[in-house]
Amino acid sequence: MNPNPVVAIAGATGAVGVEMLRCLEERNFPISKLKLLASARSAGKTMTFRGQDITVEELTEDSFKGVDIAFFSAGGSISKKFAKAVVDAGAVMIDNSSAYRMDPDVPLVIPEVNPQAAHDHKGIIANPNCSTIIAITPLWPIHQKNRVKRLIAATYQAASGAGAAAMEELEQATRAHLAGEAFEQKIIPHPYPFNVFSHNSRVDPVTGYNEEEMKMVKETTKIFADTNIRVTATCVRVPVLRAHSEALDFECENPITPDDVRTILSTAPGVKIVDDVARNYFPMPKDASGQDDILVGRIRQDISDPTGHSISMFVAGDQLLKGAALNAVQIGELLLA
Ligand code: A2P
Repeated sequence: MNPNPVVAIAGATGAVGVEMLRCLEERNFPISKLKLLASARSAGKTMTFRGQDITVEELTEDSFKGVDIAFFSAGGSISKKFAKAVVDAGAVMIDNSSAYRMDPDVPLVIPEVNPQAAHDHKGIIANPNCSTIIAITPLWPIHQKNRVKRLIAATYQAASGAGAAAMEELEQATRAHLAGEAFEQKIIPHPYPFNVFSHNSRVDPVTGYNEEEMKMVKETTKIFADTNIRVTATCVRVPVLRAHSEALDFECENPITPDDVRTILSTAPGVKIVDDVARNYFPMPKDASGQDDILVGRIRQDISDPTGHSISMFVAGDQLLKGAALNAVQIGELLLA
């Protein structure tokens, strides 16, 4: 890999793309040239990187000549449409969509969990689903000390996972609601202000699980490289702008205490303990927004398991950062290491 790569961001104008640009700048990612790509609607707009205006270009099959690393966050169909052009151009695609995550030839990488997998690519590396990253980044160091046999997750997911337009829609719909005005939502299918609803991905009529839930189930197995881990999830959207929260309940192979978990997580990368019982202060999406770390708290023994093998805890992580852009940029850093 060129130590001073030519980098492209496909979907640069989107909610995740903007954060990718920011992460690349803040983390001093070495870049000899940056190409910003989006739809024809955005071609000609400018975005600022390291004090310089860069003109957004329309994403086409010719966009990747001379590119070393192409970050993609423009949706699964766009990733599928352009993957061959990226690989044929000799670039590595770091894809934030779900298009290739379960492809056996594509590594699915969280740098704090399975960094070695990033080097085992055939041109495409997948960034996991945001809810999966936020749940299992803090679970991995525990799993290494005391194998997690079973995970039960319940998510409280922000609008950002549905893109910049959904975030804007939540703000507009809330203003209209408070003003007593009618507002027709176009992105999110259910009334969003002052409401919660089951995640807006397709529900399998046979199993009753939605796609987001099954991503958590399947991706955890792949990233942990552990086919024995049992996972279930209930994924729900809440009227929060950019950080996801999750209640995690897990059972380990051996007995485990809240103090064990605190000790393990106190030195774990990408994780910060926020567990102030006296002040009743625990992870909140408002605090997690704009932060790289995943906040972990409410760490307690799960009293429904009298054998002492189970822990309940609550986490919050920025969906746009560790759940997407930051994780992708960290994968890029692994390629340069
Ligand atoms: P554009 O802003 O020009 O529509 P989000 O996830 O926030 O909805 O962002 C989606 C990103 O994907 C945006 O940068 C968007 O560009 C880009 N995008 C959407 N459709 C296409 C397309 N057909 N070709 C290229 N980029 C696209």
